[in-house]
Amino acid sequence: IFEDSQTPSKLVAHEISQLIRNKQQKKEFCVLGLATGSSPIKVYEELVRLHKEEGLSFSNVITFNLDEYYPMDKGNIQSYFYFMYEHLFNHVDILPENINIPDGKVSAEDLQQYCIDYERKIKALGGLDFQLLGIGRTGHIGFNEPGSHYNSSTRSITLDHITRVDAAPAFLGVDNVPRKAITMGIGTVMSAKRIVLLAWGNNKAEIIQKTIEGNVTSEVPATYLQNHSNTTFILDEEASKELT
Ligand code: F6R
Repeated sequence: IFEDSQTPSKLVAHEISQLIRNKQQKKEFCVLGLATGSSPIKVYEELVRLHKEEGLSFSNVITFNLDEYYPMDKGNIQSYFYFMYEHLFNHVDILPENINIPDGKVSAEDLQQYCIDYERKIKALGGLDFQLLGIGRTGHIGFNEPGSHYNSSTRSITLDHITRVDAAPAFLGVDNVPRKAITMGIGTVMSAKRIVLLAWGNNKAEIIQKTIEGNVTSEVPATYLQNHSNTTFILDEEASKELT
């Protein structure tokens, strides 16, 4: 628990940069699972600074984003594709072919196979070395809404109403928020070797309390993380204030 989000965001960026550098020394790829939204923005800011000012190279980095709205155009400013380029990929030396973000424009008939292939690609690389997470007020990680099975893999999902309400400002009204998304599954996330979840602010306090102190349940999918042996929750004081 930290006073604000600035210092811990830098610490997380430094952990990621150390992992990238260690893998570089061993001539290995570093496979990162990435999140969008407000929570990781300062982490990406610091990673960009480390690239520009301290010589951190992303040439051995392969990324997989957690999710994307469906349907969604890559060029749309509300897309997670746009977000990732804006906040990270446009500013570092990652190879374009090493960037993986679920495609919000894949046709309905190809969607299932697309999700199977996304999952396979992660597995073929030996899984995620590091997974960065935020948490939604429904307890979702990625877009694994309440009811998600612990063994779920990459798939299409119907977004919870609360999730759509929270996204409404960005879409200028809840009616404009897509009803569906493509998301990595709980199983995909849980197989990561290291997980860091970030939560900032008052409006996360209630779900953080349930996630950390409640029973493991599909009704709060983030509670599954209690069973992961290398997960850290990083909170600011506001997000931690309901913890007993
Ligand atoms: C985003 C994602 C979501 C967000 C969550 C919190 O890729 O997977 O689970 O992390 O909705 O969003 P923010 O950080 O905007 O509060």
